[in-house]
Amino acid sequence: MKILGIESSCDETAASVVENGRVVLSNVVASQVEEHKIYGGVVPEIASRRHAEAISGVVKEALSDANCTLSDIDAIAVTYAPGLIGALLVGVNFAKGLSFASGKPLVPVHHLRSHIASNYITFEELKPPFLCLVVSGGHSHIIEVKDYTDYKIIGYTHDDAAGEAMDKAARAMGLPYPGGLNLDRVAKDGNPKAYKMPHPRVDNAPYDFSFSGLKTAALNTINNAKQKGEEISIPDLGASYINAVVDCLIENTAKAAETLGYKKIVLAGGVSANSVLRRRMTETCEKRGWELYFPELKYCGDNGAMVASQGYFEFISGNTADLSLNAVASLPIE
Ligand code: KG4
Ligand code: ZN
Repeated sequence: MKILGIESSCDETAASVVENGRVVLSNVVASQVEEHKIYGGVVPEIASRRHAEAISGVVKEALSDANCTLSDIDAIAVTYAPGLIGALLVGVNFAKGLSFASGKPLVPVHHLRSHIASNYITFEELKPPFLCLVVSGGHSHIIEVKDYTDYKIIGYTHDDAAGEAMDKAARAMGLPYPGGLNLDRVAKDGNPKAYKMPHPRVDNAPYDFSFSGLKTAALNTINNAKQKGEEISIPDLGASYINAVVDCLIENTAKAAETLGYKKIVLAGGVSANSVLRRRMTETCEKRGWELYFPELKYCGDNGAMVASQGYFEFISGNTADLSLNAVASLPIE
């Protein structure tokens, strides 16, 4: 079964054709990174306009790369929530138009569900149940993935998401957008023990996160040094900061896995591209004899293949929508 997946929730216009949820036949991503760089972050109005310009060409290319026409496609899957509302609407309306014109079923896909599904592409053998740490620009969740369309949130962030915390600290360190990726790059040669960073906990919520205090600590370190006229080592501060974020992510995930009895751990979302998280989570899982899965780098960020993959599992579970489908800015995964 071939599913066309369309993604436009943030600053990537993407489309892909995936067979049976696992085999990628095409994957086209038009990134707006260069355009948003000069503003230091995503400008929602610009994102919507660029999606509107790019989407038709991106979908056409995804179909032709897969040697398909619309008539070969079994269903059209689209990200409808959560995300930037104007950006989501471009993909949703385009998918609705395609569905109306072709008579093919329309499948609404939740963005975090699709991030989790990026692992089904990389690992053909991976099946739920498993415990998933989903870390992106807008979310930091520990989720029990009981089945392909059945989820339970175990932990979440009370303030900043992990990716947001990376982006804001990177910006304060003078690094260009996209902050998380550039912070990861400069911190590679840094000493993670050079700066002492807090490891915030949430009272009575062992699986929840709070990153705003950690972000403030990094900002204070930078400002104090400026006032005293001292030099800050960005690689050292970056390494100390990333390791503190990763400590929190790993500690809570390991605690949840132990308590709930999961021996299969999965990472997903843009921050799952982080080299320190990937390396240290690998060490943690090896020590405990747990299986660990994380997506190939090209499927960590937003892409259409993960939408088509999850779209397949939604479709075979009977989750389709009619043309009244609307975009939703904020919506829990459950
Ligand atoms: O999943 P994603 O592409 O978009 C959202 O759904 O939000 O995640 C984007 C987030 C950004 O905050 C970005 O800085 C972060 O993922 N990110 C990284 C890395 N690559 C992307 N954070 C840390 N290290 C990376 N290598
Ligand atoms: Zn995303």
